[in-house]
Amino acid sequence: MYNSKIGGLGYYVPETVVTNEELTKYMDTSDEWIQERTGIKERRYAKKHEETTTTMAARAAEKAIADAGIDKEDIDFIIFATLSPDYFFPGCGVLLQRELGITKTEIGAIDIRNQCSGFVYGLSVADQFVKTGMYKNVLLVGAEMHSMGLDFDTRGRNVTVIFGDGAGAAIIQPTEEEGKGILTTHLHSDGTCAEELAMITPGSHGGYHLGKEKFGFPDEDSPGGIYITQKMLDDHLIYPNMTGPLVFKWAVQKFPAVIKEALAKTELQASDIDMLIPHQANLRISQFVQKVMGLSDDQVYNNIQKYGNTTAASIPIALCEARDAGKIKSGDLVCLAAFGSGFTWGSALIRW
Ligand SMILES: CC(C)(COP(=O)(O)OP(=O)(O)OC[C@H]1O[C@@H](n2cnc3c(N)ncnc32)[C@H](O)[C@@H]1OP(=O)(O)O)[C@@H](O)C(=O)NCCC(=O)NCCS
Repeated sequence: MYNSKIGGLGYYVPETVVTNEELTKYMDTSDEWIQERTGIKERRYAKKHEETTTTMAARAAEKAIADAGIDKEDIDFIIFATLSPDYFFPGCGVLLQRELGITKTEIGAIDIRNQCSGFVYGLSVADQFVKTGMYKNVLLVGAEMHSMGLDFDTRGRNVTVIFGDGAGAAIIQPTEEEGKGILTTHLHSDGTCAEELAMITPGSHGGYHLGKEKFGFPDEDSPGGIYITQKMLDDHLIYPNMTGPLVFKWAVQKFPAVIKEALAKTELQASDIDMLIPHQANLRISQFVQKVMGLSDDQVYNNIQKYGNTTAASIPIALCEARDAGKIKSGDLVCLAAFGSGFTWGSALIRW
């Protein structure tokens, strides 16, 4: 068995900065409300009809490949985490393979559907493949283009103000350095609140979970179903919805629990953590976690103020930024932790 490490990192955020003030043109909200409740000052939006989740991922991946000092043809597997894919199917993994122009055909590509925990889930999958010797250079990407799928009407404001676009990438490789690399990963889920932070239509559910009436499915005698109804469009059910206070309550319990689980597994203490990179859900959540874990400001990295919540992309973007700013050095203990839709949550401890 090998240990695996993050051998290269890269991120890409689109040029267009969208301030809180700008959002007030479209919905009843304010800079003060958004900053006070979430810490967010601005976010980035991709160039619509020109950029996609996959093209942003490709820009991040190119940087990670260069950072790792490898060639794109050295990649032997792609893992793509996103909740905002270019297409319903096929997944972004194969689109990324094409976008990068990898000519070594037939390398595998999988998509991970674990929302805000997508990168940590992907890291765990990559870790298993590398540990067993199956792959040597796994390209792991978290990328999101939320701006194409948000409700800019006031009824969508609690979700829309939070999310932003971006991509982060990592190359996962074997390491022979004793005690270095990914020490442990922990993954969890609980589907009892699946619809509380979700985008459920269009989908194949046909009203099964929440009732046909809510979605306007007609009684009709046909072997197939109706995928999108007029009611879904009229009631803005095609957009994400979130019960914010419930998500908050779960997040502030599960973040510390899964970090403690990783520390217990490795017989380390919170004081041993040099840098915690929490999924950038909400600055208030990160601050709560920091307090509960007894961590200092120097031990936690946040950048949600600039980018909003970029879901699967938030951890790799923050990790890369922190590393580039000299906040993560060789030998440091880095903790990644995430919580999000599903609900799903997870953590990883890495000796850098
Ligand atoms: C979304 C969140 C910021 C809302 O803050 P909150 O204090 O819980 O607010 P509530 O949802 O209870 O809403 C309070 C009021 O603000 C209003 N509101 C919601 N979004 C608003 C916005 N963008 N601007 C202004 N007012 C807004 C609500 O309509 C509500 O008004 P009412 O009291 O008249 O009904 C907060 O719940 C949160 O951060 N939850 C976690 C979300 C998260 O992290 N999601 C990502 C997980 S990965």
